[in-house]
Amino acid sequence: MPVPRETFLSNVWRDGIFDNKVLFCTGGAGTICSMQVRAFVALGGNACITGRNPEKTERGAADIASVRPGAKVIGIVADVRDIKAMEAAAERCAKELGSIDFAIAGAAGNFLAPMAQLSSNAFRTVMEIDTLGSFHTAKAVMPYLVESVKKHKNSGKIEHAGTGGRIIFISASFHFRGQPLQAHVMAAKAAVDQISSSVAMEYGPFGITSNVITPGPIAGTEGMERLSKQDEQSTKASKAIIPVGRWGEVKEIADATVYLFSDAGSYVNGVVLVVDGGQWRTTGAD
Ligand code: HXC
Repeated sequence: MPVPRETFLSNVWRDGIFDNKVLFCTGGAGTICSMQVRAFVALGGNACITGRNPEKTERGAADIASVRPGAKVIGIVADVRDIKAMEAAAERCAKELGSIDFAIAGAAGNFLAPMAQLSSNAFRTVMEIDTLGSFHTAKAVMPYLVESVKKHKNSGKIEHAGTGGRIIFISASFHFRGQPLQAHVMAAKAAVDQISSSVAMEYGPFGITSNVITPGPIAGTEGMERLSKQDEQSTKASKAIIPVGRWGEVKEIADATVYLFSDAGSYVNGVVLVVDGGQWRTTGAD
């Protein structure tokens, strides 16, 4: 069933802004990332998504491709913890789709666990998926992003990397103030934020921008299913502590992504864009 466009994209964006551009996204079949990729593809781009589960990845790629006639979306099975697998995925993406102009490091793992019950392996697993995986993603795509910027500069069409050479890392806000049952994720995502800062500093001179998007509680996502109690009372209490009084929509993350990837976001580099209705500014108490 086709996903109605208004569920993943606001109508403020112009069709074709990502024509002939390619997005590489890890964890691209996930509930948030698939909408980010869908928005990019709807606006003219092609994409490659990676994931660990073959069936989910294949189906995710086909679903996203259905958003626009002629769109090319490849699903590649690859574990972000394996640098060689990520390099091979990036190489295949560039070979089959012609380039990598944009990237999203979206693969993540999460579960609630008190520290007392968090094994060393459990902690390491999330550190390896989120932190090492984000580092591997950046390492794998960076040569292609550098190439993308060069290509556009050489074409004489632009002065800056407004139409390529952008990476976004998906993080969380738990480590801004502390959150029980999330020691592994707080440590992993704090490090992800700093990887993005490093990319911003080291690759800025190549015309590349690197930013973080931090989604708040987004309705209908796997993260919310895993992390929040879904009963009416808990939902009401959770919404009450958010300044805007509601959970977010996946489209609000997709819109933020399009902004950072569009010409409108060309001078934004090294920021953490928190898209959470102001939740992280609160004390967390109701
Ligand atoms: C305690 C747990 C656990 C749990 C797993 N482990 N689940 N410990 N409580 N609920 C432990 C295991 O016992 C094991 O430790 C270790 O973690 C590794 O588990 P595996 O299952 O072998 O790992 P793996 O197959 O690699 O799976 C990784 C995973 C899994 C993270 C555990 O949940 C997964 O694949 N998740 C991917 C999808 C996902 O999490 N999406 C949500 C992203 S949401 P031992 O000691 O027994 O060997 C998100 C939201 C961010 O990130 C916030 C936004 C606001």
